[in-house]
Amino acid sequence: MAQALVLGATGHIGAHIVRALLAAGHRVRATYRSERFLHVLDGLDVERVRVDLDEPHALRRVADGCEWVFHAAGYYPSFRARRNSAIAQGMESTRAILNQLRAMRPARIVYTSSAATIRQLSDRPANEEDAESWPLAQWRPLYATVKVAMEHEVRRAIQEGVPIVTVNPSFCIGEYDAHPFSGQALLLFAKGRFPWFIEHRFNAIYTGDVGMGHLRAAERGRVGGRYLLTHADFTVKEFATRVALSAGVRPPRWRIPFRFALATALATEGLAWLTHSEPLLPRSVVQATRIGQQLDGSKAVKELGLSQISIEEAIHRALAWFREHGYLKRQ
Ligand SMILES: NC(=O)c1ccc[n+]([C@@H]2O[C@H](COP(=O)([O-])OP(=O)(O)OC[C@H]3O[C@@H](n4cnc5c(N)ncnc54)[C@H](OP(=O)(O)O)[C@@H]3O)[C@@H](O)[C@H]2O)c1
Repeated sequence: MAQALVLGATGHIGAHIVRALLAAGHRVRATYRSERFLHVLDGLDVERVRVDLDEPHALRRVADGCEWVFHAAGYYPSFRARRNSAIAQGMESTRAILNQLRAMRPARIVYTSSAATIRQLSDRPANEEDAESWPLAQWRPLYATVKVAMEHEVRRAIQEGVPIVTVNPSFCIGEYDAHPFSGQALLLFAKGRFPWFIEHRFNAIYTGDVGMGHLRAAERGRVGGRYLLTHADFTVKEFATRVALSAGVRPPRWRIPFRFALATALATEGLAWLTHSEPLLPRSVVQATRIGQQLDGSKAVKELGLSQISIEEAIHRALAWFREHGYLKRQ
């Protein structure tokens, strides 16, 4: 039985890591920043510790006695972020956190990166060996750019001897998405207010399997190794139709060209600026659709024994959770 520290335990992925650890009998110290999201840990036998990773020495004593650290509190840029400052913030925060953790000498750090750091190829599905290197050779959407820059800092720490295993989840679907991050896309189609779809292919996985993948990465992952946590490829139309049918609303009907989607996103961001809210459709989501995703995640299945429940079940569980917590009207 290990003592584990989960950074970002009130996040979508963090909440599933915590549950995977508890189910396997491990002890968990769970960090949160905002009390607003603490409810995702309700009923769990975990030690709760408030940590703001932006504060210097935030992890002083927090990681004491922890053999495993799961870093699922990585920076991701909001739609308001400026490109260069977002990249700098991602790199600096990653460096600062890994420097603090290094001093505490955990046996393993599992770092949550993203499948967006994998370069897409035209002739075959991309795998862990196809990771983008920093600086990027060509334009990428801001989210992917920041995540690649952050992985560069992780590689640097690994070269300095920090025992990090990197996991790269694709689009996560599941319960406890309280912020919500990837859940925004589900809610968009589940509310039936968005009758359009854009031509795009992407990969998705149940977040519970991602949580379990993190645990397996700590147990069996190779230090310095990278593991794609993926399941099924979809077009946006296929995905949106499954979400809409599961939510009992009409699936989107019209395909819109990229430029129109971008203009729509810009309009929703303008409205969000004025109303101090989050946009219905951020530009980063539309920009990400310029690069189709085809991934080969067989390494994690073989080496970590990654489980992969059906995406229909993942959508069902996510929507049930959103309904129960007031993000979506009850039927
Ligand atoms: N969701 C996906 O589909 C997906 C897929 C691939 C990769 N990822 C990556 O996985 C990571 C986690 O994603 P997620 O979906 O779980 O995000 P999330 O639901 O927004 O959760 C992020 C967690 O990190 C905490 N956090 C963030 N910044 C912090 C800081 N400065 N100090 C302390 N705590 C901080 C948040 O605390 P608060 O509750 O206070 O905000 C929250 O607990 C991100 O790096 C994301 O890019 C996500």
